[in-house]
Amino acid sequence: MSKKQIIHSDISTVLSTEELAEIDAELAHVPYKSGAAIDALKIVQGKRGWVSDECLRAIARHLAMSDEELEGVATFYNLIYRRPVGEKVILFCDSVSCWISGCDDIKANISQSLGIDYGETTSDNRYTLLPVPCLGACDRAPVMMVGDDLVTHVDNKTVTAIFGQAKKRVAE
Ligand code: FES
Repeated sequence: MSKKQIIHSDISTVLSTEELAEIDAELAHVPYKSGAAIDALKIVQGKRGWVSDECLRAIARHLAMSDEELEGVATFYNLIYRRPVGEKVILFCDSVSCWISGCDDIKANISQSLGIDYGETTSDNRYTLLPVPCLGACDRAPVMMVGDDLVTHVDNKTVTAIFGQAKKRVAE
């Protein structure tokens, strides 16, 4: 077995056929393999929730990149999660417009409601709370993403409406 075959075999034991097919479809649209790096990371994260070291290494091999190069891309792009996250990630904007609109108090309320701080996941694995720079909806500040949903004009009533049930579950 050639070295190339061994490497390919290693990749396919880590990444699924479906993941590899989706990454290869992205590769068809870029002039060089590393141009598909972010999309490849997103594809794997979309299936698994996060990108483990093992997956990152396999993606790097598939894109003919070094682990360090791909790690640099993953680190720069702050929506690639390199640690396990909950079922829904709360991306809480703490940039200037949201800060002026009182996001600090709201963040404190979320933390108290869910019992987690930035970078932490609730004990029922439902939510992970992360800070994020501007979400591009400053005219509707304060703003957060809860999973795929953009939530605007966030106030304490919003927090109770969204996380009130979660609070009960976490306490149980
Ligand atoms: Fe929060 Fe722009 S500063 S959305």
